[in-house]
Amino acid sequence: MSSTARAACVIGWPAKQSRSPKLHGYWIKRYNIDGDYRVEEMPPEAFPAFITNLAGNGYVGANITMPHKDMALAMSEPDDRARAVGAANTLWLDDGRLRSTNTDVEGFVGSLDSAAPGWDRRSESAVVLGAGGAARAVVYGLIERGVKTIHVVNRTFEKAELLRERFGPSVQPAHVEDIPRLLDGAKLLVNATALGMKGQPDHAIDLSPMAGDALVSDIVYVPLKTGLQAAAERRGLKTANGLDMLLHQAVRGFQLWFGIKPEVTRELFDLLAADIVKT
Ligand code: ATR
Repeated sequence: MSSTARAACVIGWPAKQSRSPKLHGYWIKRYNIDGDYRVEEMPPEAFPAFITNLAGNGYVGANITMPHKDMALAMSEPDDRARAVGAANTLWLDDGRLRSTNTDVEGFVGSLDSAAPGWDRRSESAVVLGAGGAARAVVYGLIERGVKTIHVVNRTFEKAELLRERFGPSVQPAHVEDIPRLLDGAKLLVNATALGMKGQPDHAIDLSPMAGDALVSDIVYVPLKTGLQAAAERRGLKTANGLDMLLHQAVRGFQLWFGIKPEVTRELFDLLAADIVKT
């Protein structure tokens, strides 16, 4: 790295588990950029001072992970996506101003676009499992792409109701018992809960009522294939996966920091997949 190099980082607590350094490191090398991407692990009390002086700390921008996404939103100038989702996961300096966005939105829709191009023309409605931070990005992405009705199913019903308050009447809160009825003829199902993640039980959902050309998406990427995705494949349905979402969400940050729009390639997917299989 030269003295004119640009650097970005991921800030979290913890952050060592983040796959972003591998991902951005791959692109830095591939595009021959004079730059660096590092890990900054810090507790919540150190975070505000660090991002207030991001340039002084040597960075042009950052990815933000748990538990700092709310604070990052509050301390920056958010775009429409970050404001709507209520969390910022990407920061950049724009003429000295600290700006933010939420790239999970485009990461999610990007993963659907690559798994099933044209999915948005076929899906008037969707069923989303979960009502936490990830679900908010998913729901906003679906609304942006014109999905008219989004059934949000959550163990804690009140949180699904909060999504309706946030995003309006296209969100229909629902209970877990409603799933069989909601899946009857459904074309799009998204898991945005922690279920299926390594160490968690899988969803026990019968996918047989779904339409034959339905798409099943899972935001979980450890393991690479969740029980829900395996069940979808057994039924011959298309699947979109969480690793693709992770890769697509990283594109915008890289472009903002290093000035090149990087490509999500099979080689990059395989590199990250090999790393995940090891865990
Ligand atoms: P994230 O930012 O990853 O979305 P989160 O905001 O904590 O994390 O949300 C986690 C989601 O997974 C929630 O929808 C949660 O349901 P509750 O709102 O009822 O807690 C869901 N979830 C987590 N563990 C679950 C479980 N064992 N069964 C069902 N839903 C679960």
